[in-house]
Amino acid sequence: MKPQTTKNGVVAVCILKGGMGKSTIAINLAHRLQEKHGDTVYVDVDKNGHGTEFLGFGDAYNQNGHIEEVIFRDLHPKELVIDTEWGFGVVPSSTEMSTINDRMKNQMNADVILKNEVVDPLRNDGYDYVVLDTPGDPSKVADNALVAAQSFIVPVIPGQGSISGLERIMETQLLPIIEATDGAADILAITPNMLSESIRPNKPDRRLLEDLNRNWADYLPPYARITDEQWEKIDQNGRGDIPLPGIRERDALSDSFSNNMPVGAYNGSCDQLEHFDTLADIVAERA
Ligand SMILES: Nc1ncnc2c1ncn2[C@@H]1O[C@H](COP(=O)(O)OP(=O)(O)OP(=O)(O)O)[C@@H](O)[C@H]1O
Ligand SMILES: [Mg+2]
Repeated sequence: MKPQTTKNGVVAVCILKGGMGKSTIAINLAHRLQEKHGDTVYVDVDKNGHGTEFLGFGDAYNQNGHIEEVIFRDLHPKELVIDTEWGFGVVPSSTEMSTINDRMKNQMNADVILKNEVVDPLRNDGYDYVVLDTPGDPSKVADNALVAAQSFIVPVIPGQGSISGLERIMETQLLPIIEATDGAADILAITPNMLSESIRPNKPDRRLLEDLNRNWADYLPPYARITDEQWEKIDQNGRGDIPLPGIRERDALSDSFSNNMPVGAYNGSCDQLEHFDTLADIVAERA
């Protein structure tokens, strides 16, 4: 009998490659979950701390000792949560993440430490959703994040190397976890990101969208699905009433971080906001 899909409200935004939009999606997803679905905490476990810095918490990133107290001693992770003006909480990353990664390797149950010491206690403390922003290279912390989440959102951008990053995390991490849990873990979405306007044949956006629709259609959110018929129509008559697929590259999305806020707070009329809402709905329903 197939076990029930784990519904723990925890999701990891992950891909084994930098610069794909993990932090952008994790932060804006956390904001939309908080706005529409329930109490949410964004947990930055990427040692580079970019997401923490995007939100203006660089000082917290440079303060040592706290995550270590949570993971290896008895400090409750709620003591690390920064309450933000946007409603969702933030557990900042820290420069000590690399040390923590090394120490984790020597522990018993080295893959469930984050789950036991951080994620479960935050859920028990009343957070309905936990969004994990994960590192772009393989590590013990990354393994821990995936095991804690069991639900995954994978961003991919156009251009060379991103499909191979997708295939790499699928083959080496996500599919094995799904198999090991007998299907209880699940990929909630593979989402294109940073699409630019042109979906003409042989352009990088087109190649990415065709590849995703051909090989990973089951995992695509509705805003990224384009059928063969629709491609034909697009190539013969232009896009017509077929909406531009998302998530697109928008100044509002990068500028919001220069101003240390999620895009919904920076520019509520950004046309990509609806896609983060779609992802939030998917997480609320399935994570
Ligand atoms: N859709 C988008 N439109 C405009 N800018 C974007 C978009 N997505 C991401 N960016 C910008 O691209 C850069 C990389 O995105 P982000 O930091 O979210 O990726 P990441 O996968 O978390 O990268 P890292 O590996 O550095 O942590 C950032 O400067 C971000 O502001
Ligand atoms: Mg990041």
